[in-house]
Amino acid sequence: MWLLPSFQASLAWALLSAALATQLSLQESLLLKSLGLSTKPSPKTHGPVPCVLWRIFQRRKTLPSTSKDLGDACRVEEFNVPGNIIRVFADQGHFIHNGQPPRLLCLRKRLYFNLSVLEEDERLTMAQLEIKFSHNSYPSPSQGQGLELRLYRSSRLALQGTPAPERGQKLLVERSFVQLHKSLVFDLSGVAKDWRTHSRNLGLILEITESSGDGASALGSGGCTSINSFLDTSLLVVTLSQQQCRASRRRRRSAEPPPVTPSSLCKPRRLYISFSDVGWENWIIAPQGYLANYCLGECPFPLTAELNSTNHAILQTMVHSLDPEGTPQPCCVPVRLSPISILYYDNSDNVVLRHYEDMVVDECGCR
Ligand SMILES: *[C@@H]1O[C@H](CO)[C@@H](O)[C@H](O)[C@H]1NC(C)=O
Ligand SMILES: *[C@@H]1O[C@H](CO)[C@@H](O)[C@H](O)[C@H]1NC(C)=O
Repeated sequence: MWLLPSFQASLAWALLSAALATQLSLQESLLLKSLGLSTKPSPKTHGPVPCVLWRIFQRRKTLPSTSKDLGDACRVEEFNVPGNIIRVFADQGHFIHNGQPPRLLCLRKRLYFNLSVLEEDERLTMAQLEIKFSHNSYPSPSQGQGLELRLYRSSRLALQGTPAPERGQKLLVERSFVQLHKSLVFDLSGVAKDWRTHSRNLGLILEITESSGDGASALGSGGCTSINSFLDTSLLVVTLSQQQCRASRRRRRSAEPPPVTPSSLCKPRRLYISFSDVGWENWIIAPQGYLANYCLGECPFPLTAELNSTNHAILQTMVHSLDPEGTPQPCCVPVRLSPISILYYDNSDNVVLRHYEDMVVDECGCR
């Protein structure tokens, strides 16, 4: 008898929280969708953020408002290409050891970048392969003897143990070095576009060999085997999400914190959104939150110029002042918004820098 009311109350509470949770998750999935994500990423590992992404992120954050004005929101100035999403894909390929290595071979490695996370509507505008070595130089095979780097595109699945990998691969790059540089970059935009449209992505083959010349045969391949452990490769891909960059070609000023003068008139109000408050700190790397602001206030008769109203809104306030019951006041809504950049892990543990339009309220108006 005593238990019943409290049982009912807790049941009601449970139902209410379940309903609220459903509402929340619906809201969240709508929000994620508007951010171009189908599900909330849950990265398994929090790998290091590539320097280049940090650099671009920091630069955008600290741009003075005047230069932001000139920049196109859907353009990556650093590479001078259209785009609002920059991803760095880690290499998932493996070293290839098939039997006895040819004499002059230092290393042969399959490079594989899984581009399947790119959405249909994203237009790929740049793909750049970076090969990094931890030393600027390493033991030179022999005096005056250089190295050769070759990059092939696989066009046929190389089965393990297949002895002749030369078949089914197409030479993309061939370079000779007297000394390797710490970092080498290669433009693979054409290849990456092709992977997405015409042919399957079967990866690349990277080969580094000693130059064949006089004296090399005497040394064998012992001189350069240590390269293996120094190698780090990644693919930086810039894309343009047509859906998100379609509408906004407006020029903007960057957000300044709205004034804090008390007023009941329509104006931007301070709102800081913290990503940890919405449970997103696990996948958003930076920023931790941002000043989003919102619009609130009255749009009374007579509307002044500061209220950024339309002719329609002016007429509506006039009608409202004559017939307050029949016609409402115009609404206080955002009339100018500015973008922010977000650095995050996607569901495949890649690091992504993405530019989002219309995230900050700069100005409000009566509409
Ligand atoms: C590429 O990633 C997708 C998930 O994003 C996965 O389903 C697919 O199996 C991956 N492909 C390869 C070859 O690893
Ligand atoms: C209306 O726009 C002007 C500049 O165009 C701005 O200074 C003002 O704050 C805006 N008004 C509101 C209510 O945001």
